[in-house]
Amino acid sequence: MAKRTILHIDSSARVARSHSRRLSKLFVDAWLTERGQDDVIYRDVGTNPPPFMTQNWIAAAFTRPEARSEAMKATLAFSDELIDEIEKADVIVLGAPMYNYNMPAALKAWFDQIARIGRTFSFDLERGDFPIEPILGGKTLVVLSSRGEFGFEDGVRRHMNALDPGIAACAHYLGASEIHTISAEFEEFGGERRAKSVEAAEAKAKALASSIASVLKAAA
Ligand SMILES: Cc1cc2nc3c(=O)[nH]c(=O)nc-3n(C[C@H](O)[C@H](O)[C@H](O)COP(=O)(O)O)c2cc1C
Repeated sequence: MAKRTILHIDSSARVARSHSRRLSKLFVDAWLTERGQDDVIYRDVGTNPPPFMTQNWIAAAFTRPEARSEAMKATLAFSDELIDEIEKADVIVLGAPMYNYNMPAALKAWFDQIARIGRTFSFDLERGDFPIEPILGGKTLVVLSSRGEFGFEDGVRRHMNALDPGIAACAHYLGASEIHTISAEFEEFGGERRAKSVEAAEAKAKALASSIASVLKAAA
């Protein structure tokens, strides 16, 4: 059976009590139960946030590779390392809590590092319509999230949900041709609603891992 690679990213600032970390681990564990031979690359941007972009970073990224100085190459080295991880991945698993209705700044910093001309997108100024084209493709993106409030998918707070649309808008940089989002809500309320939401999210995460993994198994 062909070996696949999962890129597992966590972005919660919490470690011990993080629900998104628990859900992302549950997905990966369920995957490995089906496909134990696969590789997992793990990156924790929650505890090790990528640096923000700087003027030097932007100048280096928009300089043609053959014209880059050694200092520019060094400035982009970490971004290159993160993009190498994405290139290797067949499935990208993102543990993504909602912070202030959006993604954690550490996860946004990761997206900023991997959105790179010539590596994850091409830019054709001759074209008038939509000159940005993704370079990578064929990957599956799985977002495992936890939220304090509720109603972000199709309920009362859907207009406040800047997390899921924000990830979806950037997903082409990852080469994601499929996006699955599973979230547990009501974390700030606790009680039965939270327990049910967590139970449902866990069941969905396990079922999704087995269904994608078994499709690959059958195809291999
Ligand atoms: C700094 C911070 C900001 C948060 N902002 C929101 C928010 O805007 N909306 C919401 O529903 N929950 C919010 N929450 C609650 C978290 O989404 C919830 O605690 C979730 O479980 C966090 O993920 P984690 O358990 O993986 O750390 C916030 C929590 C923190 C710590």
